[in-house]
Amino acid sequence: MSTEIYYFSGTGNSLYVAKGLQKLIPEADLIPIAGVLKSDNMKTKGDNVGFVFPCHGLTIPIPVRKFLKKVNVKSSDYFFAIATRGGSIFRGFPIIDKFLNKQGKSLNATFVINMSMNDPKLKSFTVPTKEELKDIEINVQQKLEVINKTIIHQEKYQDDISGVTFSRFGLFNYIPERLIPFLVHRVAGKVKNYFYSDSKCTGCGICEKVCPSQKITMEDNKPLWQRNIDCYMCYACLNFCPTEAIQIYSKIYMKSYTPERGRYPHPYATADDIARQK
Ligand SMILES: Cc1cc2nc3c(=O)[nH]c(=O)nc-3n(C[C@H](O)[C@H](O)[C@H](O)COP(=O)(O)O)c2cc1C
Repeated sequence: MSTEIYYFSGTGNSLYVAKGLQKLIPEADLIPIAGVLKSDNMKTKGDNVGFVFPCHGLTIPIPVRKFLKKVNVKSSDYFFAIATRGGSIFRGFPIIDKFLNKQGKSLNATFVINMSMNDPKLKSFTVPTKEELKDIEINVQQKLEVINKTIIHQEKYQDDISGVTFSRFGLFNYIPERLIPFLVHRVAGKVKNYFYSDSKCTGCGICEKVCPSQKITMEDNKPLWQRNIDCYMCYACLNFCPTEAIQIYSKIYMKSYTPERGRYPHPYATADDIARQK
């Protein structure tokens, strides 16, 4: 039985999970979604096909949606999805299922893994301690065992998607839980002035190298986020910048804390690992 693991990762959490799963299923192919998106003829070949990605705005990331829209999955039988997240509720699995249903397939197993948050614009963001990272690693390994067993036997599995909500009152969650995915998918990736580089920028070009949507070019030794290319909102540029020079503008509706918060790339992920996705 062959397995393909399609992954997308901005700061290495999902890459760590995808690689960990590949270790348990050595014959599995690890395929970067950002890379295959360039091809016109995307076709899955594995009997088992998995998608591993971060939760963005309670739902699937922009490139994962783009990929699911185009990929032909007709020759595969069993589908699983793994969302890594900072800890909120995750509402993206029905979207994946809908895309698969269009080709007569369905999502058989869904998993959620809590990992470190990689969004330093949030007031609540903190850089994880060594102990916290160790606990996450242990949890990921335990979860991977469950995922591996489920896939090997092509079983059905539905993970608990619940997490931190906005309010204890159901009704007050309704609007943000619909608005946030919409903002991430339709608005944020197109916002003109979302990121900027401050005076700490040395012009090293790592941001351009890691950017999976190829939105960044270097002009006069400074990153330029090209307006005509959608941002995948992965925050690789922000989190891999060695001098923490990349910031997010504050907006009227949301103050950004990037100048005073630290950064989070997964401890085992390098800028080269992220760059290799494209
Ligand atoms: C733009 C953005 C939006 C995010 N939204 C959520 C969210 O709604 N819920 C959540 O639990 N984590 C959220 N996160 C955190 C990531 O899902 C989490 O850190 C993930 O494991 C990162 O995976 P990666 O390193 O593979 O990119 C968000 C991160 C970013 C950059």
